[in-house]
Amino acid sequence: MNEILNDTLLELEKTQHDFWNVSRSTGNFLNMLVKIRNARSVLEIGTSNGYSGLWFLDALKVTKGHLTTIEYYDKRQSIARANFDKCGFAGMYTPILGSACDILDKLPSDKMYDFVLIDANKREYVRNFELIKPHLLPNAIIAADNVNSHREKVQTYLDAVMNDEDFQTEILDLPAGLAISYKCK
Ligand SMILES: C[S@@+](CC[C@H](N)C(=O)[O-])C[C@H]1O[C@@H](n2cnc3c(N)ncnc32)[C@H](O)[C@@H]1O
Repeated sequence: MNEILNDTLLELEKTQHDFWNVSRSTGNFLNMLVKIRNARSVLEIGTSNGYSGLWFLDALKVTKGHLTTIEYYDKRQSIARANFDKCGFAGMYTPILGSACDILDKLPSDKMYDFVLIDANKREYVRNFELIKPHLLPNAIIAADNVNSHREKVQTYLDAVMNDEDFQTEILDLPAGLAISYKCK
């Protein structure tokens, strides 16, 4: 990891709770998973200030991939873009401003992803899942954060993904709880 990226991540960790970022261990784990999967097309639902996006972009440099990231607060998106560019990731990402469900609902049918992080409105996780399903490549991975910290709000999502025969799911005991679902088909 380059020095500017490392310093930026450490700086962002000081305001982690204000921006609802994933934990450092979750970011590191997501980074590893992208490399293990050799994911090239990552979709992030919930950009915030770009903390998790930086972990993705660092891995996507290795896989030569691209990040698409959705956020509905323009101020947060601007901060994220500045963080991405400062760390040398210009041209490697597409920020989309707007409400996640509206955007997912209008995705062109040929837009496909091999890795998705669901990390925006907790009550919309299940709808995010339904909308993203047709856009998943075989053997895609879905990560969903906060499944332990916000269990009640995300229970409909967990029920849906765990009862879906196309997916194999495990909840990892990382801070806040991270559900990892593997699209077996
Ligand atoms: C938990 S934070 C994302 C943290 C980020 N993944 C990280 O770890 O750095 C959730 C973000 O999603 C945004 N958000 C919430 N509901 C949304 C929605 N329906 N559509 C798009 N963005 C949304 C919030 O503004 C917030 O910045």
